[in-house]
Amino acid sequence: MPEPEGAQRRRLLPLLGGVHGGRSAMTCKYRCADACFHPVPNESDNEYFGDMVNKAMSRRGLLRSGAVAALVVGSGVGSGALAAAAAPASTRSSGPKPPTPNFPDVPERGRPVGFRSIGDNTLDTIVVPNGYDWSVTVAWGDPILPGAPEFDFDHQSEAAQLKQFGYNCDFVAILPLDRNFTKALLWVNHEYTNEELMFRGWTDAAAATVEQLKIAQAAHGGSVVEIERVGESGEWLPVGGRRRYNRRIHTNTEFTVTGPAAGSDLLKTSADRTGTKILGMLNNCAGGTTPWGTILTAEENFNQYFGASAAVTDAAVAERYRRYGIRTTAGTDRGWEKTNKRFDVAQEPNEPNRFGWIIEVDPYDPTSTPRKHTALGRMKHEGATVSIAEDGRVVAYMGDDERFDYVYKFVSKNKYRTGDSKRDRDSNMRLLEEGDLYVAKFTGDSPAGEIDGTGKLPADGAFDGTGQWIPLVVGGQSKVQGMTVQEVLTFTRLAGDKVGATKMDRPEDVERNPVTGTVVIALTNNTARNAARGVEEPNPRLNNKWGHVIGLDEAGNDPAALTFTWKILVLAGDPSDPSTYYDGYDKTQVSHMSCPDNVAFDPAGRLWISTDGMPGPSGIHDGLFVMPVEGPDKGHVRRFASVPKGAECSGPFITPDGRTATIAVQHPGEDDDASPDNPFSTFPYGDQPRPSVVTVWRKSPTGGPFIGD
Ligand code: FEO
Ligand code: CA
Ligand code: CA
Repeated sequence: MPEPEGAQRRRLLPLLGGVHGGRSAMTCKYRCADACFHPVPNESDNEYFGDMVNKAMSRRGLLRSGAVAALVVGSGVGSGALAAAAAPASTRSSGPKPPTPNFPDVPERGRPVGFRSIGDNTLDTIVVPNGYDWSVTVAWGDPILPGAPEFDFDHQSEAAQLKQFGYNCDFVAILPLDRNFTKALLWVNHEYTNEELMFRGWTDAAAATVEQLKIAQAAHGGSVVEIERVGESGEWLPVGGRRRYNRRIHTNTEFTVTGPAAGSDLLKTSADRTGTKILGMLNNCAGGTTPWGTILTAEENFNQYFGASAAVTDAAVAERYRRYGIRTTAGTDRGWEKTNKRFDVAQEPNEPNRFGWIIEVDPYDPTSTPRKHTALGRMKHEGATVSIAEDGRVVAYMGDDERFDYVYKFVSKNKYRTGDSKRDRDSNMRLLEEGDLYVAKFTGDSPAGEIDGTGKLPADGAFDGTGQWIPLVVGGQSKVQGMTVQEVLTFTRLAGDKVGATKMDRPEDVERNPVTGTVVIALTNNTARNAARGVEEPNPRLNNKWGHVIGLDEAGNDPAALTFTWKILVLAGDPSDPSTYYDGYDKTQVSHMSCPDNVAFDPAGRLWISTDGMPGPSGIHDGLFVMPVEGPDKGHVRRFASVPKGAECSGPFITPDGRTATIAVQHPGEDDDASPDNPFSTFPYGDQPRPSVVTVWRKSPTGGPFIGD
């Protein structure tokens, strides 16, 4: 049998590198437009479905909503083969549900992890535990579409990039294409670009060529890549030959708009007088999958692409720009205003309002138009993950990744249809177009003043309490004084300010455990939480450089409930530091984890957490960690993988058969002094660093048992 492509690539890996000290300023500039150096913008006072799910439910006794969310798969039926009569073009599905994959039995819930943790390290490669292996599935520049040239670092072009895999990979999902789960669709977000690392001799946007700017625009967005499993292992590689589903979405792809703000005056521009057609998606960070087999992808730090908002003098409009971090001065670090006036707020004041949404993509139909769903609000969306409520409505949990911003959820008006027909899928495809939007208020149960900011446990032994979902839009009516529905949805942060939502330490992924029903919220860090800002039980540490994780349990374990209880699961960081807490587990036994960002669950309900920013406060590389959430090993955090120099660990996605952990190696080689002539990382092929998607699997003749066992 020929050596798999991944194995060949692994042999080319570079020699191991040295230590990276603090966080790169380059990271801040290009990912979040130096948000961490800017004033905090929140200054307010305040069988794949029915059969598989049924099987999973009866076999594991899973919660209804959880099973649906965890085992999400999609329609593998040919694109556009069946025309929908009733639904508008933008919501037609590609067909009925595909067949159910034959997954092996899942491990028992609460099962302990069975691998030996890897140590803290600063190696310029992927490190996984003994007994596991990994390979690069796809990397920046790999040809995706017909006619794409091979990657040529020194001769890159917009035309090539439009057909090649994009830059910084973040959210990853794998959606099965067949019953045996041998073929699948890989979805990947391309959040942003590192021009300093992409172009030799780059100085800044002002000196950039238009071609360079267009290459960067083409490298943003997302990719669909048809992949296949290598034998019986958990390794996945791109298919050869015909790739009917492959797709690139980029800055000039057309999107349509759904929901109450579609067509609003707030979204109209000179190029789109309907307020319903938008070119591109920007800074797509995390995301989720839906039970009907689509991808949700979240526009996060979209503000950095726009400048010159000071030209708009209306005070109310200026406040909206300020709250969303739109730069007042002309020009941006991206420089895209040089290619298109829509990035210049002075010329197109509403263009920024057309970004910051949750987007739904049907990966099974490469001709489908992606949809921006205004019913889910506009913010620096980290991601969105879907559960199904007791009554069949669908619920999307969402975080707004900014210091002192909020946690939200959307509850659909209509109910999920469990059938397999094309009609059922068409109906489900419209669930995120209409519904109610809420923001979270957390209340601690300790007396005022008891929380001292050091992380010391309160007298009742836990950072915990109750909470409520405060309505913003319900039944198509605004619940926010002085704001219309369209204003609430387009300027959702301002709505959250008005109703007294709880200011959190940067809400990242929010995802419901398919086995236990607990909603996990990753709060990555917040060093701006100082004495003047104060602490409270849900955000209990001053100068929160390491971040924390909250578990939220909805009343009655129903995602549509309006009240909840919560507790802190992890106060992350060096376990020897007294301010840390790992769900009560013996801290001498846990791995050092900090800056929790993305979360995922395996089929046993264990929590997987990837980190972003550990080199700064912790001096070690980011990585992927796993933590059982019940049983005697609850809180036993172990480090499963680490990523190369300068990289953030994104992704993670545990395949529903439990055999593969997928990691996105985002911005390898990011460093203040790095350039193509002085690369800080040479991952993965020993020359220029290339953002990559990596699959990790357990070495075993049969491909089992599960990742983490
Ligand atoms: Fe793009 Fe909130 O991380
Ligand atoms: Ca308490
Ligand atoms: Ca993230």
